[in-house]
Amino acid sequence: MILNEQSIAEIREKMVKYPRRKSAILPALTVAYRQIGHLNEDLYGEISKIIEIPVVEIAEAASFYTMFPKHPVGKYLIQVCHNISCALLGADGLVRYLEKKLEIRKGETTPDNLFTLITVECLGSCSTAPMMQINDRYYENLTREKVDTILDELRKQA
Ligand code: FES
Repeated sequence: MILNEQSIAEIREKMVKYPRRKSAILPALTVAYRQIGHLNEDLYGEISKIIEIPVVEIAEAASFYTMFPKHPVGKYLIQVCHNISCALLGADGLVRYLEKKLEIRKGETTPDNLFTLITVECLGSCSTAPMMQINDRYYENLTREKVDTILDELRKQA
């Protein structure tokens, strides 16, 4: 088993909240992601057994959401929205700036395993574009100066 006892217990607790087992898929994936840092086929199988839903349905749900990386990522997963509002307000330039600053290309992780940079579709914060999500937190109305401050802070916390 990849999931530890705490995660399994947490998934079982969440299942009680949902009369339809299928509704527990996303909470279960979230628990697994928080423990492991990414998702994979083995985890889908384990979740499938716990919540008694076919593994294909677990995999389908996981594949739909970019918030669940499917391979190991850095401590900080930087997800830059590149959808219409963010694109119009400079998301592409922001991605290029992050690539230059982190010395990686989109989709890559820094050699110190601290940052992974990806682009994602709309994160529902269009009125504060351009924006990005790093792990669970939104960073909005971004400028290059704000990006510098954010990365400096995260490096200090690492
Ligand atoms: S377009 Fe970027 S948050 Fe909606």
